[in-house]
Amino acid sequence: MSANYPKAPYLRLGVNIDHVATIRNARGGGHPDPVRAAHLAAEAGADGITAHLREDRRHISDEDIARLMSEIEQPLNLEMAMTDEMLQIALNHRPNACCIVPESRQELTTEGGLDAVSMGDRLSAYNAQLKNAGIRVSLFIDPDITQIEASTSVGADIVELHTGPYCEAALEGDKAKSTSEIERLAECARAASAAGLEVHAGHGLTFDTVDAVAAMPEIVELNIGHFLIGEAIYGGLHSTIGRMRALMNNARADANGRASA
Ligand code: PXP
Repeated sequence: MSANYPKAPYLRLGVNIDHVATIRNARGGGHPDPVRAAHLAAEAGADGITAHLREDRRHISDEDIARLMSEIEQPLNLEMAMTDEMLQIALNHRPNACCIVPESRQELTTEGGLDAVSMGDRLSAYNAQLKNAGIRVSLFIDPDITQIEASTSVGADIVELHTGPYCEAALEGDKAKSTSEIERLAECARAASAAGLEVHAGHGLTFDTVDAVAAMPEIVELNIGHFLIGEAIYGGLHSTIGRMRALMNNARADANGRASA
């Protein structure tokens, strides 16, 4: 599996296919197949595939991960909780990256960022085992400077900044909050990049919210799932991903144009 991405300012799109598996699991059986969706996503412009293997296996299954690793050319970003079971699975499959997320069984989706500050030594030891196996370690954190500093000290390669609060504020039409959340994301993207971390972002992004995040030059990858899979009901997966890809490209090109003007 190749991890050769084009260099910035190209912005990568990681498509999260969890909710194809959610629909499949609603009936049992094999349809719709998340691996088929991953192939289609790649054809439509996804640079990578993201899948969250949850402890309760509510969507993606162990077999899905095995098939994604053997059948998909694009790099796999495996989202997982910091548990011994997930560590063994990651070491068996060696995906391009593991994104460590907090996980509780009752939550509908990942609710907040990881608290890298309080997890300190435990997280360092966990990350070291992944990194020794050649797996890049990503930490899903809130846009918070202390979390960025902690991410550096526990040996993360990547931070994925949580865009959920920004997207919620934008969806509710709360201009003041969405503006302050975007400023917080931009400040943290700059700080993380200056600290030598690769910067990703994701959670809750839609056609209406992607531009402001895609315009941040330090961010090199967006991971987007729920909206794309939901919107595909109306527009089809290929054209939905194609439109998101075009919005990302345009936002990045506009920002580059402003920077060189
Ligand atoms: N990044 C992380 C760490 C996530 O947990 C999720 C949701 O699985 C996403 C990105 C994608 O969020 P959404 O499905 O809202 O686009």
